[in-house]
Amino acid sequence: MMRYLVVYYSWTGNTKKVAKAVADRIGADVEAIVEQRPRTGSFARFWCALDSIFRRQPPIAPASHDIGEYDVVILGSPVWAADMAAPMRTFLAREKGRIAKAAFFCTYAGAGGGIALERMADASGAEPLSILLLTQEDLERTSWRADVESFVKGISAALSEIERPTDELGHTPLPGSNGTKVERRQDLATR
Ligand SMILES: Cc1cc2nc3c(=O)[nH]c(=O)nc-3n(C[C@H](O)[C@H](O)[C@H](O)COP(=O)(O)O)c2cc1C
Repeated sequence: MMRYLVVYYSWTGNTKKVAKAVADRIGADVEAIVEQRPRTGSFARFWCALDSIFRRQPPIAPASHDIGEYDVVILGSPVWAADMAAPMRTFLAREKGRIAKAAFFCTYAGAGGGIALERMADASGAEPLSILLLTQEDLERTSWRADVESFVKGISAALSEIERPTDELGHTPLPGSNGTKVERRQDLATR
C-alpha cells in the first residue's frame, strides 16, 4: 500500500484547512512545519514579506515524520510575495533529494501562485505529480472541496501513468490518455 505524507506550513489557517482535507481524502499522515520563533506582533506581516523577498530560511522545529518512509509527499504552503512561505523554504532545503514523488498546493490571494509552485518544485528537486492553487475566496465557497478531489485524482492518475508498462511498440502512453486531466509543470507559467 502507498504511504502518503502531507507536509504543510500555515500562518493564518487557510493552508492548514486544505492540508487536512487532502490528508483525510487520501489517507495521509500529516506534518505541520512549526517555526522555532512564533510570528506574532504588529510587524509580523512585514517580517514575513522580508523573509520571502530575501529568501531567508528561518529555523523550524525538527520534523516528527521521516519523509524517506513515504512513497508520495504532498507539500502545501501559503504564497508570500509570489513565493513559498519562508518556513517551507527551510523545510525543502533540509529535505532536498529525499522526496521521490511529490505534489504541491498553495493558498493565496490570487497573485503569484504559479511562481510559488514552480519554486517549491525546484527547491524539492521533485517533479509535481499534481498541483493545486486555491484562493481565499475559493475557500469561502464549498466548491474548493471538488478542487481537492481533482488534485487527489491527479496524483493517482500520475502514479498509474508512471507504473503503466510501455505498449507493444515500446511507447509509453501519453500523459492524460486515461481521460483524466493531470496538471503538468508547464501549466504553471500561465498562473
Ligand atoms: C507576508 C505575506 C505575503 C503575501 N503575499 C501574497 C502574494 O504575493 N500573492 C497572493 O496572492 N497572496 C499573498 N498573501 C496572502 C496569503 O498567501 C493567503 O492569505 C494565504 O491563504 C495564507 O495562508 P495561511 O492562512 O495558511 O497562512 C500574502 C500573505 C502574507 C502574510
